[in-house]
Amino acid sequence: MDRIVIEGGTPLRGEVKISGSKNSVLPVLAAALLTEEPCVIRRVPDLSDVRFMLDLLRHLGAEVERPDTHSVRVCARRLTETAPYDLVRKMRASVCLLGPLVARLRRCRVSMPGGCVIGPRPIDLHLKGLNALGARLAVEEGYVVTHDAALEGAVISLAGRHGSTVLGTGNVLMAATLAPGRTTIEHAACEPEVEDLARFLNALGARITGAGTPLITVEGVERLHGAEFEVIPDRIEAATFLIAGALTGGEIAVQPIVPAHLLPVTALLRDAGFWVTEDSDRVTLRREGATAARDFATGPFPAFPTDAQAQMMALMCVTPGTSVITERVFSDRFMHAAELQRMGAQIEMEGATAIVKGVEGLSGAPVMASDLRASAALVLAGLVARGQTDIRRVYHIDRGYERIDEKLRALGARIERIREA
Ligand code: EPZ
Repeated sequence: MDRIVIEGGTPLRGEVKISGSKNSVLPVLAAALLTEEPCVIRRVPDLSDVRFMLDLLRHLGAEVERPDTHSVRVCARRLTETAPYDLVRKMRASVCLLGPLVARLRRCRVSMPGGCVIGPRPIDLHLKGLNALGARLAVEEGYVVTHDAALEGAVISLAGRHGSTVLGTGNVLMAATLAPGRTTIEHAACEPEVEDLARFLNALGARITGAGTPLITVEGVERLHGAEFEVIPDRIEAATFLIAGALTGGEIAVQPIVPAHLLPVTALLRDAGFWVTEDSDRVTLRREGATAARDFATGPFPAFPTDAQAQMMALMCVTPGTSVITERVFSDRFMHAAELQRMGAQIEMEGATAIVKGVEGLSGAPVMASDLRASAALVLAGLVARGQTDIRRVYHIDRGYERIDEKLRALGARIERIREA
Protein backbone atom coordinates (compact mmCIF):
# COMPACT_ATOMS: atom_id res chain seq x y z
CA MET A 1 0.00 0.00 0.00
CA ASP A 2 1.48 3.39 -1.04
CA ARG A 3 2.48 6.02 1.46
CA ILE A 4 2.79 9.78 1.00
CA VAL A 5 5.62 11.62 2.78
CA ILE A 6 5.49 15.40 3.09
CA GLU A 7 8.06 17.93 4.37
CA GLY A 8 5.84 20.84 5.47
CA GLY A 9 6.41 24.59 5.43
CA THR A 10 6.52 25.58 1.75
CA PRO A 11 3.95 28.15 0.55
CA LEU A 12 2.19 26.72 -2.53
CA ARG A 13 2.03 28.87 -5.62
CA GLY A 14 0.63 28.35 -9.09
CA GLU A 15 -2.38 27.20 -11.06
CA VAL A 16 -3.73 23.65 -10.77
CA LYS A 17 -5.81 21.92 -13.44
CA ILE A 18 -8.99 20.57 -11.89
CA SER A 19 -10.15 17.11 -12.99
CA GLY A 20 -13.71 16.08 -13.81
CA SER A 21 -16.10 15.63 -10.90
CA LYS A 22 -16.05 12.19 -9.28
CA ASN A 23 -19.54 12.68 -7.87
CA SER A 24 -20.90 13.67 -11.26
CA VAL A 25 -19.16 11.08 -13.45
CA LEU A 26 -20.20 8.06 -11.33
CA PRO A 27 -23.98 8.53 -11.78
CA VAL A 28 -23.43 9.71 -15.39
CA LEU A 29 -21.62 6.43 -16.20
CA ALA A 30 -24.48 4.49 -14.60
CA ALA A 31 -27.00 6.53 -16.63
CA ALA A 32 -25.31 5.38 -19.88
CA LEU A 33 -27.02 2.01 -19.20
CA LEU A 34 -30.38 3.66 -19.98
CA THR A 35 -29.73 3.48 -23.72
CA GLU A 36 -28.50 0.73 -26.04
CA GLU A 37 -26.71 3.37 -28.12
CA PRO A 38 -23.07 4.39 -27.47
CA CYS A 39 -22.28 7.26 -25.10
CA VAL A 40 -18.92 9.06 -24.95
CA ILE A 41 -18.15 10.75 -21.62
CA ARG A 42 -15.31 13.28 -21.47
CA ARG A 43 -13.35 14.92 -18.65
CA VAL A 44 -13.50 11.61 -16.80
CA PRO A 45 -11.14 11.77 -13.80
CA ASP A 46 -8.55 8.98 -13.58
CA LEU A 47 -9.64 7.57 -10.17
CA SER A 48 -9.97 4.13 -8.62
CA ASP A 49 -13.70 4.78 -8.02
CA VAL A 50 -14.15 5.35 -11.78
CA ARG A 51 -12.31 2.08 -12.51
CA PHE A 52 -14.61 0.30 -10.03
CA MET A 53 -17.67 1.69 -11.82
CA LEU A 54 -16.34 0.67 -15.25
CA ASP A 55 -15.72 -2.88 -13.92
CA LEU A 56 -19.36 -2.94 -12.79
CA LEU A 57 -20.65 -1.74 -16.18
CA ARG A 58 -18.59 -4.44 -17.93
CA HIS A 59 -19.90 -7.07 -15.49
CA LEU A 60 -23.45 -6.00 -16.41
CA GLY A 61 -22.68 -6.61 -20.08
CA ALA A 62 -21.87 -3.12 -21.36
CA GLU A 63 -19.01 -2.60 -23.83
CA VAL A 64 -16.58 -0.15 -22.19
CA GLU A 65 -13.62 1.45 -24.01
CA ARG A 66 -11.22 4.20 -22.98
CA PRO A 67 -10.21 6.17 -26.11
CA ASP A 68 -7.88 8.12 -23.77
CA THR A 69 -7.22 8.50 -20.02
CA HIS A 70 -10.00 11.06 -19.59
CA SER A 71 -12.67 9.69 -21.96
CA VAL A 72 -14.91 6.65 -21.75
CA ARG A 73 -17.17 5.07 -24.41
CA VAL A 74 -20.01 2.96 -23.01
CA CYS A 75 -22.42 0.92 -25.13
CA ALA A 76 -25.01 -1.09 -23.19
CA ARG A 77 -26.58 -2.96 -26.08
CA ARG A 78 -26.84 -6.08 -23.95
CA LEU A 79 -27.50 -5.81 -20.23
CA THR A 80 -27.89 -8.27 -17.36
CA GLU A 81 -29.36 -7.41 -14.01
CA THR A 82 -26.96 -8.56 -11.29
CA ALA A 83 -24.41 -6.28 -9.59
CA PRO A 84 -22.62 -8.66 -7.21
CA TYR A 85 -21.50 -7.97 -3.64
CA ASP A 86 -17.76 -8.36 -4.35
CA LEU A 87 -17.94 -5.48 -6.82
CA VAL A 88 -20.57 -3.28 -5.10
CA ARG A 89 -18.85 -3.47 -1.69
CA LYS A 90 -15.87 -1.53 -3.12
CA MET A 91 -17.89 1.60 -3.70
CA ARG A 92 -21.07 2.96 -2.16
CA ALA A 93 -21.93 4.85 -5.35
CA SER A 94 -22.72 1.47 -6.98
CA VAL A 95 -26.19 2.04 -5.53
CA CYS A 96 -26.91 4.38 -8.45
CA LEU A 97 -27.16 1.37 -10.76
CA LEU A 98 -30.63 0.68 -9.35
CA GLY A 99 -32.44 3.36 -11.34
CA PRO A 100 -31.02 2.51 -14.79
CA LEU A 101 -31.42 -1.28 -14.35
CA VAL A 102 -35.02 -0.99 -13.19
CA ALA A 103 -35.87 1.46 -16.00
CA ARG A 104 -34.14 -0.53 -18.77
CA LEU A 105 -34.75 -4.15 -17.69
CA ARG A 106 -37.71 -3.82 -15.31
CA ARG A 107 -35.67 -6.20 -13.05
CA CYS A 108 -32.47 -5.93 -11.03
CA ARG A 109 -30.39 -7.68 -8.39
CA VAL A 110 -27.99 -5.16 -6.83
CA SER A 111 -26.06 -5.91 -3.65
CA MET A 112 -26.81 -3.58 -0.77
CA PRO A 113 -23.94 -1.05 -0.50
CA GLY A 114 -21.79 -1.44 2.59
CA GLY A 115 -21.70 1.26 5.24
CA CYS A 116 -18.48 3.22 5.50
CA VAL A 117 -16.36 5.06 8.02
CA ILE A 118 -18.41 8.25 7.84
CA GLY A 119 -21.48 6.60 9.28
CA PRO A 120 -24.35 4.31 8.26
CA ARG A 121 -25.34 4.77 4.63
CA PRO A 122 -29.03 3.76 4.46
CA ILE A 123 -30.85 3.62 1.14
CA ASP A 124 -34.41 3.89 2.48
CA LEU A 125 -35.06 7.05 0.44
CA HIS A 126 -33.78 5.38 -2.75
CA LEU A 127 -36.19 2.47 -2.19
CA LYS A 128 -39.07 4.80 -1.25
CA GLY A 129 -38.60 6.92 -4.39
CA LEU A 130 -38.14 4.01 -6.82
CA ASN A 131 -41.04 2.05 -5.32
CA ALA A 132 -43.25 5.13 -5.65
CA LEU A 133 -42.48 4.84 -9.40
CA GLY A 134 -43.61 1.20 -9.38
CA ALA A 135 -40.19 -0.51 -9.12
CA ARG A 136 -41.50 -3.10 -6.61
CA LEU A 137 -38.07 -3.39 -5.00
CA ALA A 138 -37.49 -5.69 -2.04
CA VAL A 139 -34.36 -6.56 -0.03
CA GLU A 140 -33.57 -10.28 -0.15
CA GLU A 141 -30.40 -11.86 1.29
CA GLY A 142 -28.44 -8.60 1.11
CA TYR A 143 -29.58 -7.75 -2.42
CA VAL A 144 -32.07 -5.17 -3.69
CA VAL A 145 -34.20 -7.10 -6.15
CA THR A 146 -37.19 -6.75 -8.39
CA HIS A 147 -38.50 -9.05 -11.10
CA ASP A 148 -41.50 -7.17 -12.38
CA ALA A 149 -41.13 -3.41 -12.16
CA ALA A 150 -44.04 -1.55 -13.76
CA LEU A 151 -42.90 2.08 -13.86
CA GLU A 152 -45.32 4.94 -13.98
CA GLY A 153 -44.86 8.66 -13.30
CA ALA A 154 -45.60 9.71 -9.70
CA VAL A 155 -45.23 12.54 -7.18
CA ILE A 156 -42.29 11.64 -4.92
CA SER A 157 -40.82 13.33 -1.85
CA LEU A 158 -37.16 12.61 -1.00
CA ALA A 159 -37.02 14.53 2.29
CA GLY A 160 -34.91 12.67 4.86
CA ARG A 161 -33.75 13.36 8.41
CA HIS A 162 -30.49 14.80 7.06
CA GLY A 163 -32.01 16.68 4.14
CA SER A 164 -32.36 15.13 0.70
CA THR A 165 -30.24 12.40 -0.88
CA VAL A 166 -27.89 13.12 -3.77
CA LEU A 167 -27.61 9.62 -5.25
CA GLY A 168 -31.22 8.90 -4.28
CA THR A 169 -32.33 11.87 -6.37
CA GLY A 170 -30.12 10.53 -9.16
CA ASN A 171 -31.69 7.06 -8.97
CA VAL A 172 -35.24 8.39 -9.11
CA LEU A 173 -34.33 10.84 -11.88
CA MET A 174 -32.80 8.08 -14.04
CA ALA A 175 -35.74 5.72 -13.57
CA ALA A 176 -38.31 8.46 -14.18
CA THR A 177 -36.87 9.28 -17.64
CA LEU A 178 -38.40 6.03 -18.98
CA ALA A 179 -41.50 5.94 -16.74
CA PRO A 180 -44.64 6.77 -18.75
CA GLY A 181 -46.28 10.02 -17.63
CA ARG A 182 -45.07 12.86 -15.43
CA THR A 183 -42.88 12.44 -12.34
CA THR A 184 -42.46 15.23 -9.81
CA ILE A 185 -39.61 14.94 -7.33
CA GLU A 186 -40.10 17.13 -4.27
CA HIS A 187 -37.21 17.81 -1.85
CA ALA A 188 -34.79 16.79 -4.60
CA ALA A 189 -31.07 17.28 -3.88
CA CYS A 190 -29.80 20.55 -5.41
CA GLU A 191 -26.11 19.63 -5.69
CA PRO A 192 -24.36 20.66 -8.96
CA GLU A 193 -23.72 16.96 -9.61
CA VAL A 194 -27.49 16.31 -9.74
CA GLU A 195 -27.86 19.17 -12.22
CA ASP A 196 -25.02 17.68 -14.30
CA LEU A 197 -26.71 14.26 -14.34
CA ALA A 198 -29.97 15.87 -15.54
CA ARG A 199 -28.00 17.71 -18.24
CA PHE A 200 -26.60 14.34 -19.43
CA LEU A 201 -30.04 12.66 -19.31
CA ASN A 202 -31.54 15.50 -21.38
CA ALA A 203 -28.67 15.05 -23.87
CA LEU A 204 -29.90 11.42 -24.17
CA GLY A 205 -33.37 12.72 -25.01
CA ALA A 206 -34.96 12.84 -21.56
CA ARG A 207 -37.33 15.66 -20.67
CA ILE A 208 -36.25 17.01 -17.27
CA THR A 209 -36.86 20.50 -15.89
CA GLY A 210 -35.99 22.04 -12.50
CA ALA A 211 -32.75 20.11 -11.84
CA GLY A 212 -30.64 22.04 -9.30
CA THR A 213 -33.80 23.11 -7.45
CA PRO A 214 -35.79 21.15 -4.83
CA LEU A 215 -38.59 20.55 -7.37
CA ILE A 216 -37.74 18.49 -10.47
CA THR A 217 -40.24 17.44 -13.16
CA VAL A 218 -39.68 14.58 -15.62
CA GLU A 219 -41.89 13.75 -18.61
CA GLY A 220 -41.26 10.06 -19.37
CA VAL A 221 -40.16 9.08 -22.90
CA GLU A 222 -40.25 5.78 -24.80
CA ARG A 223 -36.51 5.40 -25.23
CA LEU A 224 -33.23 7.32 -24.97
CA HIS A 225 -30.47 7.70 -27.57
CA GLY A 226 -26.68 7.98 -27.22
CA ALA A 227 -24.77 11.22 -26.68
CA GLU A 228 -21.33 12.77 -26.13
CA PHE A 229 -20.98 14.59 -22.83
CA GLU A 230 -18.37 16.41 -20.71
CA VAL A 231 -18.77 16.33 -16.91
CA ILE A 232 -18.32 19.42 -14.75
CA PRO A 233 -15.02 20.07 -12.94
CA ASP A 234 -14.70 18.67 -9.41
CA ARG A 235 -15.71 21.37 -6.92
CA ILE A 236 -14.39 19.38 -3.94
CA GLU A 237 -10.96 18.88 -5.52
CA ALA A 238 -10.93 22.63 -6.26
CA ALA A 239 -11.91 23.44 -2.66
CA THR A 240 -9.14 21.16 -1.41
CA PHE A 241 -6.47 22.98 -3.45
CA LEU A 242 -7.74 26.45 -2.50
CA ILE A 243 -7.53 25.43 1.17
CA ALA A 244 -4.00 24.12 0.51
CA GLY A 245 -3.09 27.63 -0.68
CA ALA A 246 -4.75 29.21 2.36
CA LEU A 247 -3.01 26.85 4.78
CA THR A 248 0.48 27.32 3.37
CA GLY A 249 0.20 31.10 2.91
CA GLY A 250 0.70 30.92 -0.84
CA GLU A 251 -1.35 31.82 -3.89
CA ILE A 252 -3.35 29.16 -5.75
CA ALA A 253 -5.59 29.35 -8.82
CA VAL A 254 -7.92 26.49 -9.70
CA GLN A 255 -9.06 26.06 -13.33
CA PRO A 256 -11.36 24.98 -14.87
CA ILE A 257 -14.06 25.41 -12.27
CA VAL A 258 -17.63 26.78 -12.12
CA PRO A 259 -17.25 29.53 -9.47
CA ALA A 260 -20.92 29.21 -8.44
CA HIS A 261 -20.25 25.59 -7.43
CA LEU A 262 -17.66 26.82 -4.91
CA LEU A 263 -19.72 29.65 -3.41
CA PRO A 264 -20.14 28.26 0.14
CA VAL A 265 -16.41 27.51 0.32
CA THR A 266 -15.13 30.79 -1.14
CA ALA A 267 -17.62 32.75 1.01
CA LEU A 268 -16.19 31.17 4.18
CA LEU A 269 -12.59 31.73 3.03
CA ARG A 270 -13.31 35.41 2.33
CA ASP A 271 -15.07 35.72 5.69
CA ALA A 272 -11.94 34.28 7.35
CA GLY A 273 -9.86 37.06 5.72
CA PHE A 274 -8.40 35.34 2.64
CA TRP A 275 -8.28 37.23 -0.65
CA VAL A 276 -10.39 35.36 -3.22
CA THR A 277 -11.18 36.42 -6.77
CA GLU A 278 -12.89 34.68 -9.63
CA ASP A 279 -13.41 34.94 -13.37
CA SER A 280 -15.55 32.78 -15.65
CA ASP A 281 -13.77 29.47 -15.10
CA ARG A 282 -11.06 30.20 -12.53
CA VAL A 283 -10.90 30.99 -8.78
CA THR A 284 -7.74 32.43 -7.22
CA LEU A 285 -6.88 32.65 -3.50
CA ARG A 286 -4.02 34.14 -1.56
CA ARG A 287 -3.39 35.02 2.06
CA GLU A 288 -2.63 38.67 2.63
CA GLY A 289 -3.17 40.36 6.03
CA ALA A 290 -4.79 38.95 9.10
CA THR A 291 -7.06 35.91 9.03
CA ALA A 292 -9.48 34.69 11.70
CA ALA A 293 -11.19 31.39 12.43
CA ARG A 294 -14.88 31.17 11.52
CA ASP A 295 -17.73 28.86 12.59
CA PHE A 296 -19.47 26.79 9.91
CA ALA A 297 -21.99 23.97 9.54
CA THR A 298 -22.26 21.50 6.67
CA GLY A 299 -25.52 20.86 4.86
CA PRO A 300 -27.10 20.12 1.48
CA PHE A 301 -26.10 22.50 -1.36
CA PRO A 302 -25.91 25.52 -1.28
CA ALA A 303 -24.78 25.05 2.36
CA PHE A 304 -21.12 24.30 3.09
CA PRO A 305 -20.32 20.88 1.54
CA THR A 306 -19.72 18.00 3.96
CA ASP A 307 -17.05 16.75 1.52
CA ALA A 308 -14.90 19.81 2.31
CA GLN A 309 -15.46 19.79 6.09
CA ALA A 310 -12.31 17.85 6.98
CA GLN A 311 -10.13 20.03 4.76
CA MET A 312 -11.58 23.24 6.23
CA MET A 313 -11.05 21.85 9.74
CA ALA A 314 -7.36 21.44 8.92
CA LEU A 315 -7.24 25.13 7.96
CA MET A 316 -9.06 26.20 11.13
CA CYS A 317 -6.48 24.25 13.17
CA VAL A 318 -3.84 26.87 12.28
CA THR A 319 -6.01 29.97 11.94
CA PRO A 320 -6.09 32.41 14.91
CA GLY A 321 -9.26 32.14 17.02
CA THR A 322 -11.84 29.44 17.60
CA SER A 323 -13.98 27.66 15.01
CA VAL A 324 -17.13 25.73 15.92
CA ILE A 325 -17.72 23.13 13.19
CA THR A 326 -21.08 21.34 12.98
CA GLU A 327 -21.46 18.28 10.71
CA ARG A 328 -25.14 18.01 9.80
CA VAL A 329 -25.02 15.52 6.91
CA PHE A 330 -23.21 12.44 8.25
CA SER A 331 -23.30 11.09 11.78
CA ASP A 332 -19.62 10.20 12.07
CA ARG A 333 -17.49 12.39 9.87
CA PHE A 334 -14.85 13.59 12.34
CA MET A 335 -12.39 10.69 12.27
CA HIS A 336 -9.75 13.08 10.89
CA ALA A 337 -9.86 15.01 14.21
CA ALA A 338 -7.91 12.36 16.13
CA GLU A 339 -5.10 12.30 13.57
CA LEU A 340 -4.97 16.12 13.46
CA GLN A 341 -4.72 16.12 17.27
CA ARG A 342 -1.68 13.83 16.95
CA MET A 343 -0.13 16.60 14.85
CA GLY A 344 -0.74 19.13 17.62
CA ALA A 345 -4.19 20.43 16.70
CA GLN A 346 -6.46 21.57 19.53
CA ILE A 347 -9.87 20.04 18.85
CA GLU A 348 -12.62 19.27 21.34
CA MET A 349 -15.41 16.97 20.20
CA GLU A 350 -19.00 17.43 21.39
CA GLY A 351 -21.22 15.01 19.39
CA ALA A 352 -21.82 16.47 15.93
CA THR A 353 -19.74 19.52 16.79
CA ALA A 354 -15.98 20.04 16.82
CA ILE A 355 -14.48 23.07 18.61
CA VAL A 356 -11.16 23.95 17.01
CA LYS A 357 -8.73 26.37 18.66
CA GLY A 358 -6.16 27.71 16.18
CA VAL A 359 -2.54 26.93 17.16
CA GLU A 360 0.77 28.49 16.08
CA GLY A 361 1.70 25.45 14.05
CA LEU A 362 1.36 21.69 13.66
CA SER A 363 4.13 19.12 13.85
CA GLY A 364 4.61 16.38 11.33
CA ALA A 365 3.81 12.80 12.40
CA PRO A 366 3.09 9.34 11.00
CA VAL A 367 -0.69 9.28 10.40
CA MET A 368 -3.25 6.86 8.97
CA ALA A 369 -5.69 7.75 6.22
CA SER A 370 -9.21 6.51 6.97
CA ASP A 371 -11.61 7.88 4.38
CA LEU A 372 -11.28 9.92 1.24
CA ARG A 373 -11.77 13.43 2.61
CA ALA A 374 -10.19 12.76 6.01
CA SER A 375 -7.08 11.66 4.12
CA ALA A 376 -7.10 14.90 2.11
CA ALA A 377 -7.21 16.82 5.40
CA LEU A 378 -4.09 14.97 6.59
CA VAL A 379 -2.25 15.84 3.37
CA LEU A 380 -3.17 19.50 3.88
CA ALA A 381 -2.04 19.41 7.51
CA GLY A 382 1.25 17.83 6.41
CA LEU A 383 1.83 20.68 3.95
CA VAL A 384 1.90 23.21 6.78
CA ALA A 385 3.31 21.08 9.63
CA ARG A 386 6.89 21.44 10.79
CA GLY A 387 8.93 18.40 9.84
CA GLN A 388 7.82 15.22 8.11
CA THR A 389 4.32 13.73 7.86
CA ASP A 390 4.05 10.13 6.72
CA ILE A 391 0.54 9.17 5.55
CA ARG A 392 -0.30 5.48 5.20
CA ARG A 393 -3.17 3.81 3.29
CA VAL A 394 -3.03 6.40 0.53
CA TYR A 395 -5.43 4.30 -1.54
CA HIS A 396 -8.22 6.18 0.24
CA ILE A 397 -7.01 9.40 -1.39
CA ASP A 398 -6.63 7.86 -4.85
CA ARG A 399 -10.35 7.09 -4.84
CA GLY A 400 -11.22 10.78 -5.21
CA TYR A 401 -8.10 12.73 -6.17
CA GLU A 402 -6.28 12.29 -9.48
CA ARG A 403 -2.48 12.31 -8.94
CA ILE A 404 -2.77 14.61 -5.89
CA ASP A 405 0.96 14.26 -5.06
CA GLU A 406 2.02 15.26 -8.59
CA LYS A 407 -0.35 18.23 -8.64
CA LEU A 408 0.89 19.43 -5.22
CA ARG A 409 4.56 18.94 -6.18
CA ALA A 410 3.97 21.12 -9.26
CA LEU A 411 2.82 23.86 -6.84
CA GLY A 412 6.06 23.62 -4.83
CA ALA A 413 5.13 21.08 -2.19
CA ARG A 414 7.89 18.77 -0.90
CA ILE A 415 5.82 15.60 -1.29
CA GLU A 416 6.79 12.08 -2.34
CA ARG A 417 4.73 8.94 -2.97
CA ILE A 418 6.46 5.81 -1.66
CA ARG A 419 5.22 2.82 -3.61
CA GLU A 420 5.00 -0.27 -1.41
CA ALA A 421 4.03 -3.80 -2.41
C1 EPZ B 1 -23.17 11.73 -2.18
O1 EPZ B 1 -23.33 10.57 -1.41
C2 EPZ B 1 -21.67 11.88 -2.42
N1 EPZ B 1 -21.16 10.70 -3.12
C3 EPZ B 1 -20.94 12.02 -1.08
O2 EPZ B 1 -19.56 12.26 -1.37
C4 EPZ B 1 -21.50 13.25 -0.37
O3 EPZ B 1 -20.87 13.37 0.88
C5 EPZ B 1 -23.00 13.09 -0.18
O4 EPZ B 1 -23.64 12.89 -1.47
C6 EPZ B 1 -23.63 14.32 0.47
O5 EPZ B 1 -23.36 15.45 -0.31
C7 EPZ B 1 -21.38 10.58 -4.46
O6 EPZ B 1 -22.03 11.40 -5.07
C8 EPZ B 1 -20.76 9.40 -5.13
P1 EPZ B 1 -26.75 11.23 0.47
P2 EPZ B 1 -24.84 9.99 -1.15
O7 EPZ B 1 -27.65 10.15 0.05
O8 EPZ B 1 -25.72 10.35 -2.27
C9 EPZ B 1 -28.84 10.07 4.51
C10 EPZ B 1 -17.24 11.94 -1.20
O9 EPZ B 1 -16.44 12.11 -0.28
N2 EPZ B 1 -29.60 9.14 3.69
O10 EPZ B 1 -26.95 12.63 -0.07
O11 EPZ B 1 -24.68 8.57 -0.79
C11 EPZ B 1 -27.36 9.68 4.59
O12 EPZ B 1 -27.13 8.72 5.61
C12 EPZ B 1 -18.58 11.29 -0.93
O13 EPZ B 1 -17.05 12.28 -2.40
C13 EPZ B 1 -30.69 8.48 4.23
O14 EPZ B 1 -31.01 8.66 5.41
O15 EPZ B 1 -25.25 10.82 0.14
C14 EPZ B 1 -26.70 11.00 4.89
O16 EPZ B 1 -26.81 11.25 6.28
C15 EPZ B 1 -18.76 10.90 0.54
N3 EPZ B 1 -31.41 7.64 3.46
C16 EPZ B 1 -27.56 12.02 4.13
O17 EPZ B 1 -28.81 11.37 3.90
C17 EPZ B 1 -31.10 7.42 2.13
O18 EPZ B 1 -31.80 6.64 1.46
C18 EPZ B 1 -26.99 12.44 2.80
O19 EPZ B 1 -26.72 11.26 2.07
C19 EPZ B 1 -29.99 8.09 1.59
C20 EPZ B 1 -29.26 8.96 2.38
